Amino acid sequence: MDRILIRGGATLKGEIDISGAKNAALPLMCAGILTEGVLKLRNLPHLADIDTMAKLLQQLGVAISVEDGPMATSPQTGTFSTKAITDYTAPYELVRKMRASILVLGPLVARCGKAKVSLPGGCALGTRPVDLHIKGLQQLGAEIDLQDGYIHASAPNGLRGAEIFFPVVTVTGTENLLMAACLAKGETRLINAAREPEVTDLAECLVKMGAEISGIGTGTLVIQGKESLNGADHAIVADRIVAGTYAMAAAITHGEVELIGARVEHIQSVISYLEQVGVSVSKTEDGLFVKRSGADIRGVDITTEPYPGFPTDMQAQAMALMCLANGASVINETIFENRFMHVPELCRLGANITVNGTVATVRGVAELHGAPVMATDLRASVSLVLAGLAAKGETIVSRIYHLDRGYDHVEQKLAACGASIERLKAAA
Ligand code: UD1
Repeated sequence: MDRILIRGGATLKGEIDISGAKNAALPLMCAGILTEGVLKLRNLPHLADIDTMAKLLQQLGVAISVEDGPMATSPQTGTFSTKAITDYTAPYELVRKMRASILVLGPLVARCGKAKVSLPGGCALGTRPVDLHIKGLQQLGAEIDLQDGYIHASAPNGLRGAEIFFPVVTVTGTENLLMAACLAKGETRLINAAREPEVTDLAECLVKMGAEISGIGTGTLVIQGKESLNGADHAIVADRIVAGTYAMAAAITHGEVELIGARVEHIQSVISYLEQVGVSVSKTEDGLFVKRSGADIRGVDITTEPYPGFPTDMQAQAMALMCLANGASVINETIFENRFMHVPELCRLGANITVNGTVATVRGVAELHGAPVMATDLRASVSLVLAGLAAKGETIVSRIYHLDRGYDHVEQKLAACGASIERLKAAA
């Protein structure tokens, strides 16, 4: 397996292009199932999760062609055409690899009245159930059977609109039901829906496809179902988590970096946190400029929340930064019960962190020291890269297939800003 070698201590300076958002691209690719027309998605990032989703969709009968940009790092354009669904199954092998595979469930039932999707099972972040996806589809009139580890859904006479209340905010749950409701008969109201920019991006694309949706960007989405949807051409929104991650990279290395394409309005909570920490962030014509102004950064407490609160997907990166703060910070993870797997690895680099349930206390240390560490999930792995950039000496991060799921050309982008980072290829 590939590993990443980092020689810490370099100050990052330069520009970084922010890729299209993985978490917007995945549901958008599934939205292609809803139409016999052609869905063109621009700004597709180069990521393992995108390849996994493409593989799953092809298995279902979606014809996909991908056009590369002018350079290896340029975004791709994908064309998705679903004349007919030839298979209704999302197998365990793919769903286990990528939980977001569950996003084919709503579109499949809506388009052809039938789906068989593996239950995702446990994952590194805890139990992560999909009960709200299932309950919502039942409210839309689907019959659901759980058998042999699979969700068997059927709605031979089509779905019908309903009022669906989410007791907890769920991003993919909202997306699944939003897509299904577009082809249901009558009106659907999704109450306490997720407001994440990725949900908004999906809703905007669905509107281009002919869907009628009001309340986009709010906690109540109202959908008037249509008989059919048409094709569309849509550019995927910039990845706010990738932008936030590179902002932390600038901060932790005393650097100054312009994040080209970053959308300021999507990372307000991260910007306000960085400003409290002692990092200056300003809007530019092309994105966002991030600069660590002083020698010291302050410890600042964090509580993760659904959007527009501080994202759970930025928690591990912020923790890496807090390891080197002047003072302590308390990090309260409220979204996932088991999202501190990066803690023991950060401690191997010299961090001082204690965990009590879903609360971590980080006491800043003067310096971190390079060591071999292991990535355990996507955001945990990038937090180790950030810590390695600031640590004295060499850090080797293994199991970086997690990193490749969510960060497009990460080592090239960091190296172009002066980081000493390279991929150590596994022996063939
Ligand atoms: C999405 C993101 C992920 C991010 C997460 C929270 C994608 C592909 N992934 O994941 O990167 O970390 O949002 O911002 O967009 N829950 C239930 N029942 C359900 C569904 C969820 O209890 O049926 C709970 C979960 O256990 C969790 C919370 O709701 O505690 C939020 O999870 P959810 O928003 O659904 O996460 P994902 O959509 O899987």
